Amino acid sequence: MKKSDLLYEGKAKKVFKTNEEGYLIVSYKDDATAFNGVKKGSIRNKGAINNKMSNFLMKILAKSDIETHYVEELNDRETVVKECEIIPLEVIVRNVAAGSLSKRLGLAEGVRLSMPVIEYCYKDDELGDPMVNRYHIQAMNIATIEELELIEYLAFKINDNLQQVFNRIDIELIDFKIEFGKLKNGNVILADEISPDTCRFWDKHTRMKLDKDRFRRDLGQVEEAYEEVYGRLLKYQEELA
Ligand code: TMP
Ligand code: ASP
Repeated sequence: MKKSDLLYEGKAKKVFKTNEEGYLIVSYKDDATAFNGVKKGSIRNKGAINNKMSNFLMKILAKSDIETHYVEELNDRETVVKECEIIPLEVIVRNVAAGSLSKRLGLAEGVRLSMPVIEYCYKDDELGDPMVNRYHIQAMNIATIEELELIEYLAFKINDNLQQVFNRIDIELIDFKIEFGKLKNGNVILADEISPDTCRFWDKHTRMKLDKDRFRRDLGQVEEAYEEVYGRLLKYQEELA
């Protein structure tokens, strides 16, 4: 498959058209932003790590009948994906209080929630991705109730699968953000990425943060954290093979 015109450039990825209908090529950058682009920087090797980690995790999810956009890894940074219409929602799943939830509800970071929580944010940079609920989403025709029921079913299933994987490599999955897209045939599939940019990973024993919070909060050892999670996943991958 050949890369053609640049279709879209986001904060962490570029998306290219291809010579084949229905397929796009995603190219992961080392650029990092936080607080809706206010904080800017770069994390060495992040593009390659996020590309490979996301692909590996999506392949695992596919084994549990979760349809994803993943098609083929082309090289360190580039992957062929199915073209889909992104549903403009950040679907956040939380197992442990952290980040904006801790701030909003006054819960100490690190307190386990008695059940996983789903939140939605409307993807709109100008508005700063405001939080919305099921009613806003239906009233604004972003998704139907049937699509939301499916999204929530898939989000919990993805949470179960990812928790199992990360538990095996001594990482606590605190929370994560996923995005879904719609294929031309109406199927809702998992799109975007699953990486330390979009998840909170804490070491199970020391509870050291091993994700983008190190960049957001200037905690140092940012590259090392991405390498650490990726290294543990690689070992797990070898054990599976
Ligand atoms: P939050 O606690 O800041 O709302 O973040 C919840 C989860 O979503 C966390 O795992 C980080 C991820 N996230 C993104 O992937 N993109 C974003 O723009 C934000 C704000 C959070
Ligand atoms: N991706 C978001 C941004 O650039 C922020 C984040 O991940 O915290 O602003």
